[in-house]
Amino acid sequence: MKILVTGGAGFIGGNFVYYILNKYPHDRVVCVDKLTYAGNLETLEGALADPRFVFYKADITNRRAMDGIFAKEKPDAVVNFAAESHVDRSISNPSVFLKTNILGTQVLLEACRKYGTPRYHQVSTDEVYGDLPLDRPDLFFTETTPLHTSSPYSASKASADLLVLAYYRTYGAPVTISRCSNNYGPYHFPEKLIPLMITSALEGRPLPVYGTGANVRDWLYVEDHCAAIDLIVRGGRLGEVYNVGGHNEKTNLEVVQTIVKILGKGEIVYVKDRAGHDLRYAIDPTKIRNELGWEPTVKFDDGIRRTVDWYLTHRAWWEHILSGSYKRYYKKMYGGASK
Ligand code: NAD
Ligand code: TYD
Repeated sequence: MKILVTGGAGFIGGNFVYYILNKYPHDRVVCVDKLTYAGNLETLEGALADPRFVFYKADITNRRAMDGIFAKEKPDAVVNFAAESHVDRSISNPSVFLKTNILGTQVLLEACRKYGTPRYHQVSTDEVYGDLPLDRPDLFFTETTPLHTSSPYSASKASADLLVLAYYRTYGAPVTISRCSNNYGPYHFPEKLIPLMITSALEGRPLPVYGTGANVRDWLYVEDHCAAIDLIVRGGRLGEVYNVGGHNEKTNLEVVQTIVKILGKGEIVYVKDRAGHDLRYAIDPTKIRNELGWEPTVKFDDGIRRTVDWYLTHRAWWEHILSGSYKRYYKKMYGGASK
């Protein structure tokens, strides 16, 4: 199988590239990434050395560029991870979220239609459902929970989901969607909660908890998300949405305190709350478990230790990000030329 992965230089896309290359010796991966601030070619260093992997620096909103890549590569499946993904950035600058997350998705869907791509998978998020109250632990998001978004980020992701489903209904496009809860693990950009707290503690900076730290997220180790996407791409029913999550709810404060405990250092400070801050996310993964046999395999206690260890042993990776020097990697590798 030849899989076109968009956003493969980012956190989850990068982990997915390795997941596929390691699990399927005969599969090939074509990666398309614009290398925004969140895209880091250093993440793909191992893949770049593999003859089964090819990288294109390209923008998914660029129709002509996508046409060229689809015509040349003729992928068997497309998995779309490419997105602007940070809620806080979407609050200060929403436009690019609409462009990449909605128009980019439409460009890819059109390319799939034009080149007859047998499978398109949209990597979406549980944030399309909005939030749940803190005092109703009995409530969970199912695939039929109404879309009810809070941030420009989640609104753009929900719009993309609706487009994907419209292409299924209108054109019979062979699509699937996954809506996953918060991921954590290696290669996570250090502006998101867990890597921000680990790297800040290591550098002696304060750990900024929004509001009271009582907001709840449902954490899933990134490899378990990759496994779920892989199962959906190979065996999920067309036109269907699958929720992905491991029933692992934690308050933000619990997560930060766990990191402080593992590292033995870190000073928590409470800062101004995020505007429109979602209270609680919690996924009901019954459908993917019953239909595809997916189960999470990594417990939070193990996953968070593994993640802290990874940041301790891959200091250069995140220090290059903090210093800005990761942006020079592409030039070093490719001399500034795009494929
Ligand atoms: P990320 O920000 O780490 O990576 C996004 C990647 O997309 C980067 O490599 C970036 O360069 C690339 N990109 C951005 N705009 C592009 C464009 N116009 N053209 C081509 N490439 C572009 O994000 P992530 O955390 O890995 O998330 C990946 C996907 O998973 C997103 O669609 C996100 O909505 C979804 N998701 C994330 C989480 C999470 O916890 N991180 C949870 C559920 C769903
Ligand atoms: P984040 O990693 O940005 O993911 P998302 O907003 O998509 O869930 O944030 C996770 C939670 O952590 C969210 O409730 C906001 C909170 N948070 C902080 O308290 N401090 C921070 O510095 C950041 C980045 C997030």
